[in-house]
Amino acid sequence: MNTFDIKNLDLFYGDNHALKSINLAIPHKQVTAFIGPSGCGKSTLLRTLNRMNDLIAGVTIKGSVKFDDADIYADVDVRKLRTRCGMVFQKPNPFPMSIWENVAFGQKAQGLTDKKQLDAIVEEALRSAALWDEVKDRLHTHAFGLSGGQQQRLCIARTIAMKPDVILMDEPTSALDPIATAKIESLMENLRKEFTVVIVTHSMSQAKRIADKTAFFLMGELIEHGETQQIFNEPNDSRTRGYISGDFG
Ligand SMILES: Nc1ncnc2c1ncn2[C@@H]1O[C@H](COP(=O)(O)OP(=O)(O)OP(=O)(O)O)[C@@H](O)[C@H]1O
Ligand SMILES: [Mg+2]
Repeated sequence: MNTFDIKNLDLFYGDNHALKSINLAIPHKQVTAFIGPSGCGKSTLLRTLNRMNDLIAGVTIKGSVKFDDADIYADVDVRKLRTRCGMVFQKPNPFPMSIWENVAFGQKAQGLTDKKQLDAIVEEALRSAALWDEVKDRLHTHAFGLSGGQQQRLCIARTIAMKPDVILMDEPTSALDPIATAKIESLMENLRKEFTVVIVTHSMSQAKRIADKTAFFLMGELIEHGETQQIFNEPNDSRTRGYISGDFG
């Protein structure tokens, strides 16, 4: 079963042909990693999955992206789509408010006011993001008082609190130290049970550790995709082999 089905997808920024005829299925409740050298289109493709490229002027998109069998570029409620496909960015970006308010924010914005229900959602999301034990006694202190790694787990909790189907992550650990990175990587084990996760990473070892499927891109083209094991141990394309052995990128 696939969460996304990408067919013949082309994306242009003005005349820059940034994604070239991409065909890719992203399986349900697995972790898919996008790898490839800088500028190959990983973030662009990730953003097409919840239509974040709509916010960029001069973008043209051809082809189709199906999410649960609905073409997201035909008729879909974009706000709903973005709620179902939450996003976590490279730099932790908590809102300037308390830890509790950060996690409750989206549900409150959607009209939930019951304090007990909100408390339960906040606790569950913080537990899923492996942050609860570290913050349970300081929920009403400012989020900026957390370390970078804690802030990133808070952003993951904020995303989870909206009960999405998909979590899109663009280099979520590249601004973090190795210990904070390891915490987020071990958290992926829980996330894959509940969500479809798509993660962009520059770290091959990270892709190897956490991804079920890996897709390798080069200059806007999808060169190869498959089981992570296969991509790293027996790549079919010499360009994939070159990249994973560190010849370029
Ligand atoms: N907002 C934008 N406006 C115009 N061109 C863009 C924009 N974002 C990306 N591009 C171009 O699209 C191509 C792919 O960029 P993208 O950011 O998707 O690559 P990436 O693989 O995520 O790179 P990195 O690993 O450095 O983050 C590049 O040529 C880039 O210059
Ligand atoms: Mg990028």
